[in-house]
Amino acid sequence: MGFLRGGLVLFILLCSFEKSFGSRKTRHLKWDVEYMFWSPDCKENVVMGINGQFPGPTIRAKAGDTISVLLTNKLHTEGVVIHWHGIRQVGTPWADGTASISQCAINPGETFDYRFIVDKPGTYFYHGHFGMQRSAGLYGSLIVDVADGETEPFHYDAEFNMLLSDWWHQSVHHQEVGLSSKPFRWIGEPQTLLINGRGQFNCSLAAHFSNTTSTNQCNLRGNEQCAPQILRVLPNKTYRLRIASTTALASLNLAVGGHKMVVVEADGNYVQPFQVEDIDIYSGESYSVLIRTNQEASKNYWISIGVRGRRPQTPQALTLLNYAPTSASKIPFSPPPITPTWNDYDHSKSFSNKILALMGSPKPPRNHDRRIILLNTQNLIDGFTKWSINNISLHLPSTPYLGSIKYSLKTAFDNKSPPENFASDYDVMKPPVNPNTTTGNGVYMLPLNTTVDVILQNANALEVNVSEIHPWHLHGHDFWVLGYGEGKFTKEDEKKFNLKNPPLRNTAVIFPFGWTALRFVTDNPGVWAFHCHIEPHLHMGMGVVFAEGVQHVNGIPNQALACGLTGNRFMKTTQN
Ligand code: C2O
Ligand code: CU
Repeated sequence: MGFLRGGLVLFILLCSFEKSFGSRKTRHLKWDVEYMFWSPDCKENVVMGINGQFPGPTIRAKAGDTISVLLTNKLHTEGVVIHWHGIRQVGTPWADGTASISQCAINPGETFDYRFIVDKPGTYFYHGHFGMQRSAGLYGSLIVDVADGETEPFHYDAEFNMLLSDWWHQSVHHQEVGLSSKPFRWIGEPQTLLINGRGQFNCSLAAHFSNTTSTNQCNLRGNEQCAPQILRVLPNKTYRLRIASTTALASLNLAVGGHKMVVVEADGNYVQPFQVEDIDIYSGESYSVLIRTNQEASKNYWISIGVRGRRPQTPQALTLLNYAPTSASKIPFSPPPITPTWNDYDHSKSFSNKILALMGSPKPPRNHDRRIILLNTQNLIDGFTKWSINNISLHLPSTPYLGSIKYSLKTAFDNKSPPENFASDYDVMKPPVNPNTTTGNGVYMLPLNTTVDVILQNANALEVNVSEIHPWHLHGHDFWVLGYGEGKFTKEDEKKFNLKNPPLRNTAVIFPFGWTALRFVTDNPGVWAFHCHIEPHLHMGMGVVFAEGVQHVNGIPNQALACGLTGNRFMKTTQN
């Protein structure tokens, strides 16, 4: 009886396994990363491209597929790695693509095989994760469809993909030198916002709506590298817009003139559908929204993207929603939607608070085993401007953690555990007065199968009355966002946590002078970065490292270890 029932359960399990991964494939890709001339915003510059394309090729796969990217570094003067943002890398932590954390940077001329399973449908992207290579243009989209025989929990007729980024005319090398100089030189606001790598710097698609004469109407034929990709639609259909942001700095807001949007997916997780006029999107996030083409079909409509959270000095990015059979050259009747005021944080908070898990989504454990509170401050260290977490500014080691922890190479990084809290008398509303801030590379060691809470605590930056937005991204996991709050987090705030339907995400923002509470379970052996997704902030030290059950990691490819102290070890073992 017991045996029979067991057999039946096994049979059903096998059937459902067959169902969800019935036709899983390995998708083989060969990519060359190289610098090339390109005009992302109609002005020629140098970008980091893949196979002669900018942005890099879009990867399209089905849930359960294996992706294999044979990545060759054709950069000549620097190493490279690529991170698959939102993919948890279960069983393949060495393929996470983080230099100094999961692997050695791939040297010029060398090839690395990124091989990993995409286990969950959703809207993802990939990008460089060494130095500031994401700012240099090393990114692209990664879209995972539901497995054969599965369906999405919503209906749509067709879809569009919009990868958003920001662009500077100054090279990343120039930017990087400024960030690490004394006195500090900030990169400033981006020159242009890009949609799928296309924007217009020296002209405006909607100049005739503005009352200034400083910008000219764009005169584009449509085949230029900077010409907008127009979204051609049919009346009375439902379209899915997949929107992801890989900006270096800018927090964005997107609106479609005359159309409402229904949000259905966030970071590869289904959310309880809700309707909005515009969405906020921070670097590292992705959304799917549905729009219904139920407006007058004889007109075209603007899609506009503008900057939030910093005083904008960058024009809106624009493209057209073009109803067939109306001509795409017909200028919309109404001006582009206006981006909400940059510092209208109530608008942003109200949007964030609407994002809840779709019914039936996994729920968080009721209690936590460990709570790590992370104070975000801007500091001066020997006169250099840095960002620090609990008074430590992250400076990555030369030996990647995954190998050094696996092989217990004790001298590879600071063995002292970083602090799990900050001084109780620290005033988060005042500029930092913490003279003991240092650079460091210690690791939070997390045993497997524990429930970890992370409380991100924002604070005043170096300037009086200034606190910035930081979108924090976790590798190797989705976390539940239990809540957002104002001021300093206290024990009392815990009572307000949403344990009923908190959304699962891989990126969550902290608002100025506020806190954000996250929870995750350590069920994925590996070493995972957790950091602000603003690239210059990460470069200035705004991140921490979690190591999770690394003794259970087996099969790290030698190539991921071929540098630093693991490099020596690897050479010795191969010689023996
Ligand atoms: Cu998309 Cu560590 O980042
Ligand atoms: Cu930041």
